[in-house]
Amino acid sequence: MISEKEHSVKLAEARSYLMERVTTMPELGVILGSGLGAFADLIEEEIVIPYKEIPHFPISTVEGHAGQMVFGTVDGRKVVVMQGRFHFYEGYAMQEVTFPIRVMQVLGVKGLIVTNAAGGINAAFHPGDLILIKDHINLMGDNPLRGANLSSLGPRFPDLSDGYNLEWRQKALEIARELGIKPQEGVYAAMSGPNYETPAEIRYLRTIGADMVGMSTVPEVLVANHAGMRVLGISCVTNMAAGILPQKLSHVEVMETANRIEKQFVRFVQGLVREL
Ligand code: HPA
Repeated sequence: MISEKEHSVKLAEARSYLMERVTTMPELGVILGSGLGAFADLIEEEIVIPYKEIPHFPISTVEGHAGQMVFGTVDGRKVVVMQGRFHFYEGYAMQEVTFPIRVMQVLGVKGLIVTNAAGGINAAFHPGDLILIKDHINLMGDNPLRGANLSSLGPRFPDLSDGYNLEWRQKALEIARELGIKPQEGVYAAMSGPNYETPAEIRYLRTIGADMVGMSTVPEVLVANHAGMRVLGISCVTNMAAGILPQKLSHVEVMETANRIEKQFVRFVQGLVREL
């Protein structure tokens, strides 16, 4: 785990590098999950910065992730979009996984839209559905807020009772209806991965109240809440979770489903960016 001092020095260096290259400072952050990167094509006056050029950023290794930050505007809103994220299963420490959220925080970002590909546990869901995350269960066995607390960044014991902002969710449900997207919400369970779950694990997750399962999002959401940001989360159900259907799970299927609904996903996120 990195020390408090090291963390603030790294953050300051990433911040000053970006302040030099970026002209419009973002108010809203967007994280695009596996196969959902096309939203970045909507960004105007864009400034694209590959992760590898930003001081202290980890490098993303997963197929389907471009690995860049795109700054600019979407319908007049100043945004920073992460095309690709860092996963715990890649071997990064939680504080590395969430470093980009801290960078957003020190750049002045006040709200975050997080997206992911997820396995559907709730039998009412179907592959291709977009589900608003209403809450989460952290089963990753770690936490990015563990260790010394930097009180300049947030409180020691952050409240998560509105971790996925209610007002934003209500607006998002409205926007979904307007776009002809079935308005649905669910609880996201985060596993460390990288294996997909066993059928027994999925039965367990259903019992404890999970509607979908994935291997990301929760670290970023914890840090965003600690940072005082409002959060909205969307899962794209790319497959039914293990043991629900007589089928095997594969990354190919996950990417195919995400690509299939990408246009609808892009319209939804655009509506959110405009209205939230
Ligand atoms: N399990 C975990 N993560 C996932 C899944 C799944 O079934 N689908 C997409 N990401």
